[in-house]
Amino acid sequence: MLVLGVESSCDESALALVDDGGVRASVMSTQIDIHALFGGVVPELASREHTRLMPRLFDELWKRAGWADDPESGWARVDRIAVTRGPGLLGSLLVGLAFAKALSFARGMPLIGVNHLNAHLLVAGLENPLEFPALGVLVSGGHTHLYRMDSPTEMFVLGRTLDDAAGEACDKFAKMAGLPYPGGALLDALGRRGTADAHLFPRPYTHNDNLDFSFSGLKTAGATWLVRHPEERFPAGESPAKERLDSAPPLLCDAAASYLLAVAETLAIKARRALALFRPRSIVVAGGVAANSVVRRVFRDLAEQEGLELHVPSPALCTDNGIMVAWNGLLLARAGYRHSLGLSAVPRGQAIPLDWLREGKNGLIVPHCLP
Ligand code: KG4
Ligand code: ZN
Repeated sequence: MLVLGVESSCDESALALVDDGGVRASVMSTQIDIHALFGGVVPELASREHTRLMPRLFDELWKRAGWADDPESGWARVDRIAVTRGPGLLGSLLVGLAFAKALSFARGMPLIGVNHLNAHLLVAGLENPLEFPALGVLVSGGHTHLYRMDSPTEMFVLGRTLDDAAGEACDKFAKMAGLPYPGGALLDALGRRGTADAHLFPRPYTHNDNLDFSFSGLKTAGATWLVRHPEERFPAGESPAKERLDSAPPLLCDAAASYLLAVAETLAIKARRALALFRPRSIVVAGGVAANSVVRRVFRDLAEQEGLELHVPSPALCTDNGIMVAWNGLLLARAGYRHSLGLSAVPRGQAIPLDWLREGKNGLIVPHCLP
C-alpha cells in the first residue's frame, strides 16, 4: 500500500510517499526565515505560504519519485491520501485539507485524516517496529504530552502541560538570549559547548503526584538569569546564527546546557512516574524537542535503567515532516480506517474526534466505534 502524506499544520509544508517498504520520496519547505522576522509564526503568512508552496512541492515530489515524465503512472500506484487534520493553526490546516481533498476527489482515492501528535510518536515505528504498549513522550513546539500507547489507533493522554510546551520554553530562553526564532536547535548547539550545572535551574512542577507539566516557572527562572547576566546575551542584530554561536560567551553556553538539562530531567521525572502506573514494553520520545541531544541522552539513561526499549526518531523525523503523516495514514489504512470528504480541521486546544469510517465485513463503510 502506498500513501501520499500532506503536512501543513504550522510553518512547514511537506509531502511524502510512504509504502510498506519505507519512504519512497519526501519533500519539505520550511517558512522559518519569513516568521523569524516577526519572532514567531504569523498565522496568515503561514497559510499563504502553504497555498503557494503545495503545488510546487507536489511537482517536486513526483519528480523525486521518478514520475515527472509520466504522472499518471505515479497516480496508478498511490492507494490513499493522508493529511494532518490537527492540532495546528486552523488556516494552515485548512490549506492542507483543501489540497488533499481536491486530490482525493479528483483521483477518487480514499482520504485519511491524521492526528499530528500521534503521527509524531508513531513515526518512530517506521525505523524500528514499536512494541506496544508503549509510554509516549510527545515534546514539540506547542505540546508536551505523556501517552499510554496501546496500538497505533489507541493512544490515551496521561498528562499534559498546563501552560507552555517544552519547545516553547526552549525557544523563549533562546530568544531572550538573542538567538533567532525558533531557537531550540540553536540552544542545543550552544549547550553542547557548555557544561551543565544541575542546580542552576528548577525542575518545575514536579513536587506533586500527577503526570502534568508546567514549564512557565522554568521560563521565568531562565529569564531572571538572563536579566542578571546582561553581558552574556547576544546583542540584537541580524548576524547569521552560526556566526553568533562561534562567539558565544562560555557562561551562556553553561546556562544553555543547564537549562536543557532542567527541561530533559523534568520530562524524565514525570515519565518515570508514569511507569509506576502501567508497565510498557517500550518508551517512545518524539516531536521537535526529541531532536535535542540532552533529551535523547536523559531518556537513553532512563530506558536503560528501566530495562525498556527506547524509540526516538532520527532528528530529521522529530521535527514536522510529511513522512510521519503518510506513515500514520498507512497504519490507519491497514486497520481499515478512512474518512469522508467532510473531514474537519481541528485547531490546537480542541480534542480530535475519533470519527473514522471503517470498512465493514460486507464492504460497506460504517462509522468507527471505539473498542
Ligand atoms: O514538532 P515540531 O517540529 O513542531 C510542532 O509540532 O510544534 O517542534 C518544533 C519545536 C520548536 O520549539 C523547536 O525549537 C524545537 O522543536 N526543537 C528543538 C530542537 N530542534 C527543534 N528544541 C531543542 N533542541 C533541538 N535540537
Ligand atoms: Zn509537530
